[in-house]
Amino acid sequence: MSGPAEPLPTLPRVPPAFACQGLEKRYGGKLALGGVDLRVEPGELIGLLGPNGAGKSTLTKIACGLVRAGAGSAEVGGAPAGSAEARAAIGYLAELFRFPDWLTADELVRLHQRLAESDGGAKERAELLSLVGLEDAADVRVGAMSKGMQQRLGIAQALVGAPSLLLLDEPTSALDPIGRRVVRDLLRELRSRGVAVLLNSHLLSEVELVCDRVAILSAGLIVAEGAPSDLTRPRGLEVETETGVRSYPDATREEVPEIVAGVVGSGASVYGVRLLESTLEDAYLEVLGG
Ligand SMILES: Nc1ncnc2c1ncn2[C@@H]1O[C@H](COP(=O)(O)OP(=O)(O)OP(=O)(O)O)[C@@H](O)[C@H]1O
Ligand SMILES: [Mg+2]
Repeated sequence: MSGPAEPLPTLPRVPPAFACQGLEKRYGGKLALGGVDLRVEPGELIGLLGPNGAGKSTLTKIACGLVRAGAGSAEVGGAPAGSAEARAAIGYLAELFRFPDWLTADELVRLHQRLAESDGGAKERAELLSLVGLEDAADVRVGAMSKGMQQRLGIAQALVGAPSLLLLDEPTSALDPIGRRVVRDLLRELRSRGVAVLLNSHLLSEVELVCDRVAILSAGLIVAEGAPSDLTRPRGLEVETETGVRSYPDATREEVPEIVAGVVGSGASVYGVRLLESTLEDAYLEVLGG
């Protein structure tokens, strides 16, 4: 006979890297956030999208503790946003940052090590500069750097002290395509280390490539949320033949072999077959009525 059922072992609950509920903010009479709920799990990369003035930077600043919410709650790793514990867990690159012109890259990161009380020393500085592709620029002064180099330096300083939540407010706006790829690879690497990232961006194709989930803010409210693939949808099939491209706008993936066989059966030569998907930009414009 079996005894009384053992209680099921409960897994330790890992608090979300960031969570807010009913978050509201007004600047005077101006509504910036009108009740936002958002959750970012450890190791999750979330893109925060939305038109100018939608409230993205305000939400990020509340997560940092730089702006106080009017109502609702915001927590970082289970601690109230703005508390010492929450601040110790974040790395932040502001949208409109300006570093002292006279500091070298190495000195700037060292300054942030002091501010963040990181004891990582020269090893951490070298690692971070290398992560953002500035390993050869340790002695270059900020004033002599291009905007893209400064932005990469900004990401390096945000990573001082190994934060578990990285808040990046438009970190790639000044980067060239190679710099963007460096940052994309870096974000993927951080995700594999369990770092959560909240990324504000207007570069939808970038966000689509790298984010696990996106939230679209409009006038202080989240109007759409999901994986990029959930927000996009199929847009049919194109078959390229010697006489031009034949379109099948309603075709599904399952119908592709039959359609291609039909084209070949009609005597045409097939040079390319493309299944089309709407982009995140299409979804964004649709949601915002653009
Ligand atoms: N310090 C402030 N004082 C007054 N109003 C502010 C302040 N900061 C932001 N706002 C207003 O709050 C709203 C949200 O601004 P926020 O900067 O969060 O938008 P955003 O989504 O980051 O926009 P952008 O894409 O242009 O960076 C805007 O209407 C803005 O004018
Ligand atoms: Mg902003």
